[in-house]
Amino acid sequence: MAGLKGRDLLGMADLSREELALLLTHARQLKSGELMPMAQGRPPVLGLLFYKASTRTRMSFSVAMQHLGGHVIDLPLNATQVSRGEPLVDTARVLDRYLDVLAVRTFAQADVELYAKHAKMPIINALTDLEHPCQMLADLQTVQENFGQLSGLTMTYLGDGNNVAHSILLGCALVGMNVRIATPEAYKPDPAIVKQAEAIANGQSEVTITTDPIAAVKNAQVLYTDVWASMGQEDEAASRIPLFQPYQINDALLKEADREAIVLHCLPAHREEEITNSVIEGPQSRVWDQAENRLHAQKALLASVLGMI
Ligand code: CP
Ligand code: NVA
Repeated sequence: MAGLKGRDLLGMADLSREELALLLTHARQLKSGELMPMAQGRPPVLGLLFYKASTRTRMSFSVAMQHLGGHVIDLPLNATQVSRGEPLVDTARVLDRYLDVLAVRTFAQADVELYAKHAKMPIINALTDLEHPCQMLADLQTVQENFGQLSGLTMTYLGDGNNVAHSILLGCALVGMNVRIATPEAYKPDPAIVKQAEAIANGQSEVTITTDPIAAVKNAQVLYTDVWASMGQEDEAASRIPLFQPYQINDALLKEADREAIVLHCLPAHREEEITNSVIEGPQSRVWDQAENRLHAQKALLASVLGMI
């Protein structure tokens, strides 16, 4: 099967089941050293343009590109003319003349889509308010390396029906995992994404949206959470805490899941809010492997969109 040469990754559903499975295979081979692609000729250049803070995404993309023999330019937004009002579409067209691939982190999904529309190079969604597909690649790699399979397992996400929850819905449906999203009533995931996940799952795997955290974790092999207030929602952080408290991953909730269950968190974590210290530091936590896998999964993605594998 052909790789993803020249393709954008704006959301999980840009990938077919087969393409996602191949990316995960490549991510595993890159991690083990079985696969070591190296740029030939002029080194490709990756641009990073982040409208929001980032530690993991910025560093894992940078290190991945350097391992591939390429270069990285991390362009601080406040040093660009974008911050002084230059239209996004003009910026996209100009960056396209310099770079080979661009990873963009924006608020609106429509902005990442505009970059893609006005640039011919591959555009990678490095997180928007709607999705976080690069995170999901690493998450699936982590589940696969723990259980040796994906299809048939159950992932339960607890907390806010946000960008991470959306990519989980679509990603699990693509790999045949059952997915359950447990949120307070007013924080359910976007119904359009739920519908899209159901269409992808096509009755082959379960897609469940619930407000009941205990029922959601029963027999689940993977428990996942994220911050209760995402970037841009900081003002709501305090008022959300009491509403989200029943969705905290703590030792009592973890006991309700499958005995072999692992716990994931995309990080950064707010300990004692969405996850307790004892769980994130406990034997079932895989969050550090998950963070490491950002490097391998995104290396697979970069190598593929650059036509190196
Ligand atoms: N998980 C994640 O995307 O982390 P950063 O915001 O640090 O990149
Ligand atoms: N939902 C979080 C994820 C951070 C990686 C946010 O958007 O801030």
